[in-house]
Amino acid sequence: MADLQSYATLFLVFLVTALLVRTLFLKSQTKVRLPPSPMALPILGHLHLLGPLPHQAFYKLSKRYGPLISLRLGSVPCIVASSPETAKEFLKTHELAFSSRPQNIAVGHLTYGTYGFAFAPYGPYWKFMKKLCVSELLGGRTIDQFEPVRREEMRSFVKLLLEKSKAQETVNLTRELVKLTSNVVSRMAMSKRCSDTEGEADEVRIVVQAVANLVGTFNLADYLGIFHKFDVQGIGKRLNDVHNRFDTIMERIIKEHEEARKKKRMKKEMGGDGVKDFLDILLDISEDENAEIKLRREDIKAFIMDIFVAGTDTSSITPQWALSELINNPTVLEKARKEIDSVVGKSRLVEESDIPNLPYVQAIIKETLRLHPASPISLRECSQDCKIGGYDILAKSMLFINVWAIGRDPKYWDNPLKFRPERFMPSDENGRNPIDLRGQHYHLLPFGSGRRGCPGATLALQVVHTALAIMIQCFTWKAGDGEGKGTVDMTEGPGLTLPRVQPLVCVPVGRLYPFPSIEV
Ligand code: HEM
Ligand SMILES: *[C@@H]1O[C@H](CO)[C@@H](O)[C@H](O)[C@H]1NC(C)=O
Repeated sequence: MADLQSYATLFLVFLVTALLVRTLFLKSQTKVRLPPSPMALPILGHLHLLGPLPHQAFYKLSKRYGPLISLRLGSVPCIVASSPETAKEFLKTHELAFSSRPQNIAVGHLTYGTYGFAFAPYGPYWKFMKKLCVSELLGGRTIDQFEPVRREEMRSFVKLLLEKSKAQETVNLTRELVKLTSNVVSRMAMSKRCSDTEGEADEVRIVVQAVANLVGTFNLADYLGIFHKFDVQGIGKRLNDVHNRFDTIMERIIKEHEEARKKKRMKKEMGGDGVKDFLDILLDISEDENAEIKLRREDIKAFIMDIFVAGTDTSSITPQWALSELINNPTVLEKARKEIDSVVGKSRLVEESDIPNLPYVQAIIKETLRLHPASPISLRECSQDCKIGGYDILAKSMLFINVWAIGRDPKYWDNPLKFRPERFMPSDENGRNPIDLRGQHYHLLPFGSGRRGCPGATLALQVVHTALAIMIQCFTWKAGDGEGKGTVDMTEGPGLTLPRVQPLVCVPVGRLYPFPSIEV
């Protein structure tokens, strides 16, 4: 009897222990440890915390919850990285797991359902296009071939400023700089200018701005299933409209290209057939039976749109912020002007080839991109579960790398809010500053980093440096209509990129006239 009882007790103890161990064990196995997170609301999660300027909202959260945060935006799990160390973990140590981008409704809609190149999942199509970008489209040789085009566009930009200065009128630099960069990109992409008033390419610029606005609009339907059905924000309709407008223009331009190619082939003009624009290169590949990937017409159109959206606003905003900082920091402006005068002289216009000899101008651009990165957040998607800093990151999470916050990290930048290009002045024996802009230094990431980093950085830096150097060389600048306090408002506005909330409207005052060849 006693035996039986002790046997039963033993059995019971065994049973309870086994159950306990099992639940404990299973629990510890399935328990995910997410990075710190603020309190979430039901359904919305953390959507209510975002506000119109997500990089600023994330920055505030990171001050409170640390450099690695997990959020839930509606039903989408998200991670925010806000320090150089965490950025390096994602972009270098675990690079492969974060080499895709999240897809959203607007991008899918606008890119013919292909997600184009910039939002393509990491895979064979993206790799093919990336190779093409590096070796041809945005590679050194193509950029060199188009140097005369950029020089021409810089000259007509100066010409416009000269006219304004002679007439003592204000110039809307926000508008003129976006025209400049759109013309550069458009002529490289399809041999058309954007700002010929009646030109169809001007339509392209307007459509591209609309695209940027739409992609930059936070679409609730991406995060909350219910909004998918009822297009509350009316985004679906606008998407359709913009998509159709873009398609009509692109079809027309592609047909023109095809006609011109046919004629050329009939003439069988060998050699001397001029510089091929992106559209020609892409059409060549689409007609090539042996190409590794068969490019469809949709792919070509989506790629051209990508290049416009990724390349024009970003590179026009950067010289705007730079000049705004210079107007507010006259000693920096004066120092830059002295450098240009002593390196370039006063009898010719500064050119792209001068940039390597202008370290202070380069430092100004670095400092501008540190404080005003044109693309303040790099977006990635996690493709497989992984562990970072002891935390679990789940596949399909959206990753926001807050480049804007990283540029203000007081651990890496002393007096981070102060505009001080001197921090980037040459310090190595070759007269170069060791901090690069292309993702080798994780405390300065304006172009992202790694294989998914910006393929247009070389082109962008040529345009941005030259446009700024020209504005410094030829003019002195007065803020506003010349009657204000003489300073420029530095408030940021909402958008896909990092625009100024106020357009930069200035009075250029002629200083040099180093280009007698330009008639005004
Ligand atoms: C100042 C100007 C520019 C800035 C600050 C900038 C910044 C960036 C950033 C931060 C990314 C994401 C990088 C990442 O996820 O690691 C990116 C991607 C990209 N940029 Fe730029 N960019 C600029 C100009 C340009 C130009 C001029 C072009 C082309 C004409 C261009 C084409 C692209 C493309 C195609 C991507 C997507 C690449 C991919 O997904 O693989 N960008 N850019
Ligand atoms: C300046 O140009 C921008 C961009 O084209 C435009 O939105 C803004 O209204 C213009 N501002 C003035 C004062 O002309």
